[in-house]
Amino acid sequence: MIYSKIKGCGSYLPEKVLTNAELEATLDTTDEWITTRTGIKKRHIVDEDQFTSDLAYEAAKIALTDANLQPSDIDLIIVATTTPDKVFPSTACILQKKLGVVECAAFDIQAVCSGFIYALSVADKFIKTRSAKNILVVGADTMSRITDYSDRSNAILWGDGSGAIVLSSSNEEGILSTHIHAKGEHEELLHVPRKGQQGEKDTIDMKGNQVFKMAVNTLDMIVDETLNANNLAKEDIDWVVPHQANIRILEATAKKLNMSMDKLIVTIGEQGNTSAASIPLALDFGIKQKKIKPGHLILMEAFGGGFTWGSALIRI
Ligand code: UT7
Repeated sequence: MIYSKIKGCGSYLPEKVLTNAELEATLDTTDEWITTRTGIKKRHIVDEDQFTSDLAYEAAKIALTDANLQPSDIDLIIVATTTPDKVFPSTACILQKKLGVVECAAFDIQAVCSGFIYALSVADKFIKTRSAKNILVVGADTMSRITDYSDRSNAILWGDGSGAIVLSSSNEEGILSTHIHAKGEHEELLHVPRKGQQGEKDTIDMKGNQVFKMAVNTLDMIVDETLNANNLAKEDIDWVVPHQANIRILEATAKKLNMSMDKLIVTIGEQGNTSAASIPLALDFGIKQKKIKPGHLILMEAFGGGFTWGSALIRI
């Protein structure tokens, strides 16, 4: 049996930080409101000349070193992003150039905050069908580029960052299953409409409260679906590595599942919601903190615009 095994992991956050105190100075909000309603204290924001591919490149370099591989060993690059550098080519192609990989397949995946799970799911199929041996899977987003900083319900939430893994074919257990879903009927609850005006920034429009309720109700179902597919119980999971949207979503999901918050990797306080980057950032944090260790069973889950949602059960 062939498995997709995580051979290396890396992440990157831009240097510039936007704190709640800075937001208090420009918006009708308070540190207290942001902290209690979202759990966020600060988020990292790119400089004017920094793009999604730059963030992806930094995380990818670390993941390749961690995997003990050269860029030339990679035979497929998948970048999950909602904020590509350009309309085309894909951020994956730009990343390929930056890494100096002369030739391999490369493409982007757009599933907003569920993007990394979608990318993992696709990558796993390439490995299981023996179509690729070493895949670079990246989640990278510059959400600040599509955030209206005069809209207090969005400005407080989003951050920029990237995370990358190298997925290699292996005889040892790795990805056990992935589950991805979408329901386009909810398109307008969380979207970035095209304004069509020259020079005007296209920004996130979110019915936050409705998204919140839908996220909580969906995330516990996807955990059950994943465990049932593998004949496993909640007690078998060592760590949940969730998409970091709001601490209250994480708490509500943990409560519904009757799981302790101690089993969740939580990074939202320091990073905000980094969309497709949030799960690989949390994974890398959990590994570097020596919480997630070889042999552990981890469950990743995400919910985002589309709506899209998904999960992955992985033996580290
Ligand atoms: O990652 C992809 C999926 N995204 C998510 O999962 C995000 C889900 N949604 C959320 O995280 C939350 O809904 C928000 C953090 C966006 C908003 O929190 P909420 O508790 O759902 O607040 P709300 O939208 O129901 O608004 C409650 C009140 C409103 O005032 P009124 O109408 O009651 O007077 C808002 O105007 O809170 C107000 N409000 C704020 N007040 C101070 C909204 N944003 C702020 C703010 N500071 N930053």
